[in-house]
Amino acid sequence: MTEAILLVGGKGTRLRPLTVHTPKPMVPAAGVPFLTHQLARARAAGVEHIVLATSYLAEVFEPYFGDGSALGLRLEYVTEEEPLGTGGAIRNVASRLHSGPDEPVLIFNGDILTGLDIRALVRTHETTGADVSLHLTKVTDPRAYGLVPTDETGRVTAFLEKPQTPEEIVTDQINAGAYVFRRSVIDTIAVGRPVSVERETFPDLLSAGAHLQGMVDSTYWLDLGTPAAFVRGSSDLVLGRAPSPAVPGRCGDRLILPTASVATDAKLTGGTVVGEGAFVGEGARISGSTLLMGAVVEPGAVITDSLIGARSRIGERSVLSGAVVGDGAVVGADNELRDGVRVWCDARIPAGAVRFSSDQ
Ligand code: GTP
Repeated sequence: MTEAILLVGGKGTRLRPLTVHTPKPMVPAAGVPFLTHQLARARAAGVEHIVLATSYLAEVFEPYFGDGSALGLRLEYVTEEEPLGTGGAIRNVASRLHSGPDEPVLIFNGDILTGLDIRALVRTHETTGADVSLHLTKVTDPRAYGLVPTDETGRVTAFLEKPQTPEEIVTDQINAGAYVFRRSVIDTIAVGRPVSVERETFPDLLSAGAHLQGMVDSTYWLDLGTPAAFVRGSSDLVLGRAPSPAVPGRCGDRLILPTASVATDAKLTGGTVVGEGAFVGEGARISGSTLLMGAVVEPGAVITDSLIGARSRIGERSVLSGAVVGDGAVVGADNELRDGVRVWCDARIPAGAVRFSSDQ
């Protein structure tokens, strides 16, 4: 049975302020910590043993997931004293693996929501006899990603990090953050210093003549690294566009967790999530947004495509679009917060303080 490593130690800077108190994989998406979806999908693909490589806010994972038995998994936790990067983190957990030298080990980034056929990636790895196999996905604008061109047999020919000029954009295939390593290849990564698997391990393996195989799988794929992407991923899980066995409840236009309270005339659409103990007042309209536990939305507020942190409060008639509000923040009544704004944890915005349109 294939075992897996999950990389969950990153600082999640692009998702701040939601990652100030919570590591990115533990931020709730569709009502449960995002990591739950990845663990459940790995289990559904036959994985039984998973090692979590932790670093930033490492102490919160084990109290929540324990030994993994609630998910039918055997979970282990390894914490880096200093962050070791993606490759260093993989090397650092090698002693916990049970696989033989030629057996496949799955590795997942902890912030990717995807319908990847995990078994097919392992099959590709085994039939091609590769040293490392990578899930590749195609994107329309590859500039923010690492490009991975392949030859006609799918064998990787180069790794090109974050291309900028049109000449550098030689393919629309990008590294999608899921790999299969031949176990013995993991043991070749340097010990005890930071290593980036994307920028160091893969290019080094390629220039040493190793066989790196790409598998393009064009099902649902989203990197949940930014607030806009995270809230879209959460909504897509609720709407059933993104597959996960771990969504607590039926898929539909909204997900209201059992202890939440929503006024009867409030309108919740587009995969909106109302977290545990959260409250939505009369006449509020919320679309494509996620309210974390204990958040309060006062009457008449209008919230679109926004992430509302735990125990935060959105005042009456305030309008939020593409906003992220940190845990415990208070947005007073009659504010207007738009695209890309990040309200920090515990910040207080007085009533009527911020507008993007005139007050007429
Ligand atoms: P940003 O700071 O917003 O770029 O996010 P990030 O810190 O998560 O970095 P990135 O998205 O590049 O990381 C990809 C995956 O590797 C994520 O699942 C991270 O949790 C994980 N990761 C990144 N750096 C480390 C590290 O030093 N140690 C461990 N264990 N995991 C890491």
